[in-house]
Amino acid sequence: MNCMSQKKILFVCLGNICRSPLAEAIFKHKINELGLADWYLADSCGTSNYHVGDEPDPRTIRNASKNGVSVRHTGRQLQEDDLDAFDLILAMDENNYHSIFRLPNARSVKAKIKLIREFDPLAKGENVPDPYYGSEKDFQQVFDILDRTIENFITQLDQVLLKPEA
Ligand code: 4NP
Repeated sequence: MNCMSQKKILFVCLGNICRSPLAEAIFKHKINELGLADWYLADSCGTSNYHVGDEPDPRTIRNASKNGVSVRHTGRQLQEDDLDAFDLILAMDENNYHSIFRLPNARSVKAKIKLIREFDPLAKGENVPDPYYGSEKDFQQVFDILDRTIENFITQLDQVLLKPEA
């Protein structure tokens, strides 16, 4: 493998402390288990600057850990350059999706910006609900949605992205 063949996936939410760092962690967990970690780089960011430099929300870390997934990330805001650097940009909800399109270069890379639940086998195209003002039940619901969505997304990676060269 050379670094040219590594595919880069960016998960995007509002604050980058709940949904998108969890999506990044679940993706990395599953990709590691498949032995494909060298082929994919995953990162996450927020459309806002509310939590730049912050650790993920402790409720996200705790819930993910209960579900066997370790979440480590430092909050950062989406930048124009990200749209060029990443091969696929997955927004958690429609608000995040529309915020991405406020960046001047988004139109020219429209095909690689998607709603993550396009890949949800149970409720295609819905939003990942924001759990920030919610309870443990809401954090578990977000975990379950992202877990099945990313599981299904990974089965389609070859179609969504160009297959990594051997
Ligand atoms: P996230 O959740 O977008 O899933 O990280 C939120 C985190 C923080 C805020 C809103 C949503 N906030 O308003 O600070």
